[in-house]
Amino acid sequence: MKVETNKVAKTHLICSFLILISCLQSLIISCEARRIKRHLSSTPGLKMKAVNLGGWLVTEGWIHPSLFDGIPNNNLTDGTQIQLKSVTIGKYVCAENGGGSILVANRTSASGWETFRLWRINENTFNFRVFSNQFAGLQGNGANPAVVTTANKPRSSETFQIVKNIDDESRVRIRASNGLFLQAKTQDLVTADYAGDGGWGDDNPSVFIMNAFGTLHGEYQVTNGYGPEKAPQVMNEHWSTFIVEDDFKFMSQNGLNAVRIPVGWWIASDPNPPKPFVAGSLKALDNAFSWAQKYDIRVIIDLHAAPGSQNGNEHSATRDGSLEWGKTDETIQQSVATIDFLASRYARHPKLYAIELINEPVSWGVALDTLNKYYQLGYDAVRKYSSNVSVILSNRLGIEDSKELFPLASGMQSVVVDVHYYNLFETKFNDLSVQQNIDFINNNRSSDLSTITTSNGPLTFVGEWVAEWQVSGATKQDFQNFANAQLQVYGQATFGWAYWTFKNVKKHWSLQWMIQNGYITLTN
Ligand SMILES: *[C@@H]1O[C@H](CO)[C@@H](O)[C@H](O)[C@H]1NC(C)=O
Ligand SMILES: *[C@@H]1O[C@H](CO)[C@@H](O)[C@H](O)[C@H]1NC(C)=O
Ligand SMILES: *[C@@H]1O[C@H](CO)[C@@H](O)[C@H](O)[C@H]1NC(C)=O
Ligand SMILES: *[C@@H]1O[C@H](CO)[C@@H](O)[C@H](O)[C@H]1NC(C)=O
Repeated sequence: MKVETNKVAKTHLICSFLILISCLQSLIISCEARRIKRHLSSTPGLKMKAVNLGGWLVTEGWIHPSLFDGIPNNNLTDGTQIQLKSVTIGKYVCAENGGGSILVANRTSASGWETFRLWRINENTFNFRVFSNQFAGLQGNGANPAVVTTANKPRSSETFQIVKNIDDESRVRIRASNGLFLQAKTQDLVTADYAGDGGWGDDNPSVFIMNAFGTLHGEYQVTNGYGPEKAPQVMNEHWSTFIVEDDFKFMSQNGLNAVRIPVGWWIASDPNPPKPFVAGSLKALDNAFSWAQKYDIRVIIDLHAAPGSQNGNEHSATRDGSLEWGKTDETIQQSVATIDFLASRYARHPKLYAIELINEPVSWGVALDTLNKYYQLGYDAVRKYSSNVSVILSNRLGIEDSKELFPLASGMQSVVVDVHYYNLFETKFNDLSVQQNIDFINNNRSSDLSTITTSNGPLTFVGEWVAEWQVSGATKQDFQNFANAQLQVYGQATFGWAYWTFKNVKKHWSLQWMIQNGYITLTN
């Protein structure tokens, strides 16, 4: 306040007059501030103390591994990578040039061109996707036994059966769509014309040593792995037991006021989602809203899995690790339609607090202008139904400029930028001590967060964090100190924070476990 009293305090009257003016001024200023604040956030002063319902409506196998137990041949689900070494030649099969050519068997070591990503047809039958994203298959609809890698979409001629040796599962033979087995005829040529059996010995050119790795455990894998008969039953059982009404009661009794609920894009076409996804997650989300109402918990809906995958991770329901979101206009339009659907369905629900347009798009696969275009369309879709529900924009992972969304956000109301802070996943955290981890929160994270927390910009949200680190042998007190440091710093975010996640077989990743065991206390 600019009241220069020493200059003007000549008479009592003038002084009083000025004080009156200044009071009026400050009243106006504080009204204005309140108006601005209301404009930014629908409930002034309310900050989200939220928890994510990870692994519920979008599967993440590491959160709940037993969900995958009943899948036949469950180490060969969609996206598993295989490499094949010919036993007769002793070299790896390779998609020459990475694709668009033939299969050869002349590589002494295996990397990208020697790796095939599986698309699962059933427990034994697959398509093999090569480095160039094309598919291996028989030439000319199977008339010619040469194996080429030129198909952009898999047809029946791109289908292969993996036959394992019962006595040694790493030895396989691969039957092509013409009924014959692949053989490494020479190092320069792999063909589908081996008719005999010939046993599993090192002299059989149709025997390969298979190295399988990188198995993904997302929604695509679990639903396609169980298949159309079993998946609906397994998934609906999971949705109705993993998160239940009592969990919302627990949250309300333990100092939480919101949930962030990851959903997949297929929820918008429930009850007829595109294969292999199955119906029922919408019903589960409806249940969450009624429990939220009962226990006064706000709901943040988060589009966690967008069509084509925005980051290539299992948590965005990628089929094989590729990232296709934003590469076609169709993926953008489908995402906007999902937001439109969710906004229209829940906008009038008193507990809908925010919609997050997409989770964790990555800078190495999603261009900023593509994302900005989508964010504007998604924002407009929400605003068709609600003027005050907050719209959350997730920062891209891997960016230098943490304010890159600010120009776009400046034209939006009740808008929030989401950042995720983990002391994990980067080598710089590998050797930090307990205290160094805590210092990193107090110094580096605090400074990162204050960079984006401005008085006239978007609100800020630490939408994912966890009291887990690379430290081994930490005590309960260490965890408490680490968690408290984060609560302190992330408490400065103007929209609030959300712990990742509510339930998890890994106990530090389960906020429920952390609260029940006294590692984290939110009520005082
Ligand atoms: C493998 O075989 C193909 C086809 O003959 C040839 O073009 C390529 O140079 C060979 N590569 C190696 C590493 O021998
Ligand atoms: C697949 O799983 C089975 C049993 O779970 C295991 O014995 C086998 O080694 C696994 N194979 C690969 C290639 O990981
Ligand atoms: C938006 O406004 C409506 C009507 O005033 C109110 O019922 C609802 O709770 C508000 N929503 C939020 C997210 O504040
Ligand atoms: C944290 O910030 C300090 C000061 O800017 C910097 O020297 C340090 O390298 C940062 N720590 C890590 C782990 O990046």
